[in-house]
Amino acid sequence: MEIQLWREILDPYVLAVDELTVKFRHIIEEYRKMGEYSPIEQVDGRVKTISSILEKAQKKQVDLDEIEEKIEDIAGIRIICQFVEDINRVVDIIKKRTDMYIKSEKDYIANMKPSGYRSYHVIIYYTVQTLGGTKEIQVEIQIRTLAMNFWATIEHSLQYKYKQNMPEHIQSRLTKAADAILCLDQEMSEVRDEIMDAQNSFKIKAKIVADILTNIQNLYKIANKRDVMKIQDEFFELYETNDLEQLERFAKELDIISEGYRAQSLW
Ligand code: GTP
Ligand code: MG
Repeated sequence: MEIQLWREILDPYVLAVDELTVKFRHIIEEYRKMGEYSPIEQVDGRVKTISSILEKAQKKQVDLDEIEEKIEDIAGIRIICQFVEDINRVVDIIKKRTDMYIKSEKDYIANMKPSGYRSYHVIIYYTVQTLGGTKEIQVEIQIRTLAMNFWATIEHSLQYKYKQNMPEHIQSRLTKAADAILCLDQEMSEVRDEIMDAQNSFKIKAKIVADILTNIQNLYKIANKRDVMKIQDEFFELYETNDLEQLERFAKELDIISEGYRAQSLW
């Protein structure tokens, strides 16, 4: 097939990966803005290269005109979570959406592959609109923890290096590493609540401080400089104490003061 024709075929897949990456990353933002823990840590996407599509088609004996139907991972999204528990939350988020629907699921977390591979796979149907019209395509979404991703990345590059001939001692190391990853994920789950609390209060504080600084900055433009400097000093003092409740109270008071100035400036 002509390279140009391939580009046309792949174009909707490029768009799908771009759109889905934005959408899933936006979910992280939404959680952050609410000051809540996000079950999604990181989102990546890729479109399979022409050569690896052809390689896979040959291996699976798929005809050229069946490629789009039978090769489900031409478009791929990878969602990385911090904890195993987050994975189901992400699957639920996907299930609730109306801009994608699930064709099939594979749970390699409950059923680890013999290689040691763990991940949750979902194949979705997703519709894109290009100048050529509307097209429904398949996208493979892989959902896994940071630890699972670490293992899969290393294993993949070793597979690539050795192809079918992975030496026995490396194979057994990988199996051991997979066990260690499983343990690591379990250990992390044990301390999950505490990690989440720590991250949350850190993020809440960061948001409060950002709000306060924005307010002070804006006040500098409209209010008496000396008053604003007093407010600023008060803030620095409070900041040092590390008292979240006091900071919150201060932020609210500052909001009211700023609101007052804004109301005045409307005149
Ligand atoms: P393939 O993509 O040919 O494997 O089709 P399949 O129908 O067997 O799908 P499967 O769910 O097994 O794998 C889909 C994708 O998951 C692969 O393309 C890889 O990205 C990933 N994957 C599956 N198994 C392994 C594994 O043992 N190691 C690594 N590193 N990745 C894997
Ligand atoms: Mg496979």
